[in-house]
Amino acid sequence: MQTIAEDDGAVVILDQTRLPQETAFVRLATLADAAHAIRVMQVRGAPLIGATAAYGVALGLAEGILLETILATLGATRPTAVNLHWALDRMERVLQKSSLASVAKERRELAWSEARAIAHEDAAANAAIGQHGLAILRPLAEQKKPIQLMTHCNAGWLATVAHGTALAPIYAAQTAGLAVHVWVSETRPRNQGLLTAWELAQAGVPHTFIVDNAAGLLMMQGKVDAVIVGADRIAANGDTANKVGTYLKALAAKAHGVPFYVAAPISTIDFACPDGAHIPIEERAAEEVGVGATAAANPAFDVTPVNLIAGIITERGVVAADNLASVMP
Ligand code: MRU
Repeated sequence: MQTIAEDDGAVVILDQTRLPQETAFVRLATLADAAHAIRVMQVRGAPLIGATAAYGVALGLAEGILLETILATLGATRPTAVNLHWALDRMERVLQKSSLASVAKERRELAWSEARAIAHEDAAANAAIGQHGLAILRPLAEQKKPIQLMTHCNAGWLATVAHGTALAPIYAAQTAGLAVHVWVSETRPRNQGLLTAWELAQAGVPHTFIVDNAAGLLMMQGKVDAVIVGADRIAANGDTANKVGTYLKALAAKAHGVPFYVAAPISTIDFACPDGAHIPIEERAAEEVGVGATAAANPAFDVTPVNLIAGIITERGVVAADNLASVMP
């Protein structure tokens, strides 16, 4: 249950465009391979995009490509997930700061070791998110069996290096013996909900697949105790970009008194971005919407305003969405 692994000067990923029908691995050996994997969503989910980009820098340097070219190529793959830029900035800083980096061989090794560190830190952060999220779920479990949770898109281990973000507390609850049931929304048009259902089935977590538009009714009927989603970019004021459809769930949750949590590592917080209006929203191909000749818009993300968010579950604890300065590195 790890999405990316080193393999003799290359990295191997699980091809998410073929899941859940088929478990296929792809070997990324070049910068172009890494950029392609991110662009076509063989890897997806903000933290995994970041880790893949970091390895992409190592792959590009091994090919003798200029660092500036590598950063520009990977930086142009997907616009919304800030973990991509966070990882590229970190790679650039480390490579430019170290005196070792003046020698090509050492520079290449440094890139591999920093990419490895980014991957390990992501797995550790998500494990901690699981434990902090579990602390929110425990009191709910005392009142309700099973706890009824809802999630959107896929913010499980597939979307990260390991453990997941929104699903990490759910896995932690399952391990702790809490009874949990998860409403999994389809997530049109790319159907990432199928990935979530696949993950939950593997882990033996009871779940039910729903169309996106059923979420409001289920909340109105009192069938949801909490919503937990991931994030692609959290602005400094707490406004949060996540997969399109997240905002509607947050609105419905507010209307029905259902707490709405965002689970994300601190690497997903963009302290340089003042608010949600400044978050770039990826516009994807109209063909994904599947309406043939009719014109279609396909924004891939939306922004949930800070006032709809009950808390952000980070590796350093659960913080109020309007108090992110408390976890600023
Ligand atoms: O377009 P995707 O599938 O990359 O979008 C993924 C999401 O929106 C996730 O919720 C987010 O990246 C968090 S993943 C831990």
